[in-house]
Amino acid sequence: MNADNPRQYGSLSRLLHWLMAVLILVQFVSALAHYAFEDSAFEALVWPWHKPLGFALLVTATLRLAWALAQRTRRPAAVSMAARFGHITLYAFMIAVPCLALLRQYGSGRAFEPFGLTLMPGFEGPKIDWMVDLGSLLHGELGWLLLMLIIGHASMVLIHRRRGPEHDVWPRMWGASD
Ligand code: HEM
Ligand code: HEM
Repeated sequence: MNADNPRQYGSLSRLLHWLMAVLILVQFVSALAHYAFEDSAFEALVWPWHKPLGFALLVTATLRLAWALAQRTRRPAAVSMAARFGHITLYAFMIAVPCLALLRQYGSGRAFEPFGLTLMPGFEGPKIDWMVDLGSLLHGELGWLLLMLIIGHASMVLIHRRRGPEHDVWPRMWGASD
């Protein structure tokens, strides 16, 4: 796997970026089905994937964060403070949104077995209210905010591209690598 360099992201960074972009899109389709099409065949089809896929996204985001830290001196410099802050915020949300849901899942006392893996065996007795309340308060809201951030991020890439080749960041993440 080639590493990053100051002009372009390397193949592992690109793989993680685009794999997560596709999976997160699927995740938002399932969230939308739950939000807007409750009790429909569409919800029945995609909602069961929400928890296991959300867990897989958390694992991928953690690996990606570790790789980003390992590559931080090699990868292309952010074009502005806003871009740098934007990328850091995306990472914070990629980790916080699924963690809040997992906290609520644990606090509910219900078992959680994504892909047949017993991550939480569940427990008898009363649920842990603060965990359930925090997750319920923030998971969905911050999830939708993450979608807004992603739309803003993709829009900024387009805006930079239209300003001309010297501002274009698209070739950093896509196309021939050197
Ligand atoms: C990156 C990962 C994730 C994203 C982007 C995400 C996004 C969302 C969004 C936007 C909603 C709001 C839907 C609505 O308004 O009806 C939602 C709801 C929900 N999510 Fe996630 N989610 C993720 C991971 C997870 C995980 C790991 C779990 C469970 C272990 C989970 C469980 C739930 C549940 C039970 C709901 C319905 C209750 C609520 O609205 O809070 N999610 N998710
Ligand atoms: C259509 C969707 C997307 C497009 C066109 C796009 C495009 C790009 C481009 C061109 C870069 C390089 C920018 C630079 O170095 O200045 C980049 C970096 C980045 N993108 Fe995206 N992106 C998309 C979706 C996403 C999604 C869904 C996420 C996260 C949830 C994301 C998170 C990031 C992050 C954190 C970086 C910094 C490099 C890294 O650590 O991977 N992007 N993106």
